[in-house]
Order: sequence, then C-alpha cells, then structure tokens
Amino acid sequence: MPRRAERSTTVSSSFPSEVPRETFEHAFTSSDSGTGRQATGTTPLLPPENDSLAMDETPHVVGVCGSLRDESYTRHSLVVALAGAEATGASIDLVDLRELDLPMFDADHPAAGDAEELTRRIERADGIILGTPMYHGSYSAPLKNALDYCGFEEFENTSVGLLAVAGGRFPVTALDHLRSVCRSLDAWVLPYQAVVPQASQAFEGDEFTDSELETRVSTLGRRLVQYANIRPDPATFESEENVGAR
Ligand SMILES: Cc1cc2nc3c(=O)[nH]c(=O)nc-3n(C[C@H](O)[C@H](O)[C@H](O)COP(=O)(O)O)c2cc1C
Repeated sequence: MPRRAERSTTVSSSFPSEVPRETFEHAFTSSDSGTGRQATGTTPLLPPENDSLAMDETPHVVGVCGSLRDESYTRHSLVVALAGAEATGASIDLVDLRELDLPMFDADHPAAGDAEELTRRIERADGIILGTPMYHGSYSAPLKNALDYCGFEEFENTSVGLLAVAGGRFPVTALDHLRSVCRSLDAWVLPYQAVVPQASQAFEGDEFTDSELETRVSTLGRRLVQYANIRPDPATFESEENVGAR
C-alpha cells in the first residue's frame, strides 16, 4: 500500500526549514490566556480561548476505544472527549472495537474480518483520539490489535490525542507507550494528554462526578480540533526504522 506522502530519509533539524521558528515558539509556549492571534494557513496558531475554526472544511475526529468492557470508563471518557471535538466544530465517529470483527492480527491476512471498515473509518480522520484502559502498565491488547491493522495510510501526518483510564493513580506508561507507537507512524501527537485515574470513583453511571476532570477530558477533543490541520513535520527517526509497515 503506498504511503500518503514521500518521506525524507534524513532529519538534520527539529525545525522544518520552511516554517519560521517563531511560529513554533508561539504555538507551544503561549499560555491559555492566548494573544488573540489567528491561525495562518496550516500553522497551529489558534488562540485557545477562541475555539472557532479557521479552516475551510469541517475536520473529522475519530475516537478508538481500547476497552471491550460493557460499562467501560474509557468509552464514557471518549464520548466526552468527542463531544468536546464536536462542540469545536468537528464531525465525530466513535470506533467501538466491540462492534467490529477483528481477529488477532496476522500479517498474512491484513484484511481479515472488518479490518477494511476499521481502516476506512480511521483514514477519514483529521484527528484521532486513542482511548485506552491501563493494562499491566501499558495500553490494552484490543487497541494494539486494531493499531496493527493500521499503518502510515491512517496515521502519517494525522493529529492524535491520547486518553488513558486507570484503576490506579496515574496511567503515564500507557500514554508513553502509545506516544512511541504514534511516532513510529509519523502521527503528530498533542503535547496535551488526558487521564482518568481511579476510574471506578470518577463516574456515576456514564457521567463524570468531577467537573474539573470532565473539562480536562473534553479539552483533549477541543485541542485536537485546533491542531487537526498542522503542517507536516519531517519524518521521525523512529518511523524511518519502521521497516515493513504499511
Ligand atoms: C488485565 C488488567 C490489567 C490492569 N492493569 C492495571 C494497571 O497496571 N494499573 C492500573 O492502574 N490499573 C490496571 N487495571 C485496571 C483498569 O485500568 C481499570 O479497571 C480501567 O477502568 C479499565 O478500563 P475500562 O473501564 O475502560 O474497561 C487493569 C485491569 C485489567 C483488566
């Protein structure tokens, strides 16, 4: 399967030469109070307090839920994150892996079961939210399996937001592991990430009991829309070594 864009073989600088350094410095150091400056072209300069879009087309955000559990806190959280994206002007799609037939990935059968539906829905995305429960210090097997059916076609130069939900205090390793996977596919992962620690105490039914936590999760969706149209960076070293990936 061809990759979406030609990929460079060397990366000599962390700043693409065609993008002024100040653009990046502003985008990543400005505080939430913002400056009122508007985005220009595809650079990621949207003031956080003004979530309206400066884009021609409605961005599409897809959430992938890595838990198969019926009353999954990850799914409840993803719904909130996707609502944040929708409120910021995106169309949304929740990929519930329970509803797809995805056998354990076998590289001899990359189109098994509903793999085509999975990749078609994810490839449409301008922004992807990967939601995972913390399992044994990492992200879940159903999410890993779904990701193995995907590749550069779905992730390269696509903005990704990470969400992790844990029974314990802080699922940081799950987030770190997902960030590494996304780098190997040249996705653009938001610095902002959302976590729901001690999940069994965080919900009443499918609703957050703590409005501050709810805001942090919905902010993931809002930020993802703001950064859905980023200018592609040069390929990462990790992706250059991702030999054999589609
Ligand atoms: C196999 C398994 C491993 C788990 N490992 C961890 C862990 O390492 N750290 C942690 O905080 N919680 C762990 N948990 C608890 C889950 O993260 C927690 O129950 C979470 O809410 C599950 O997400 P869900 O509600 O979306 O299914 C584990 C749960 C299971 C089933």
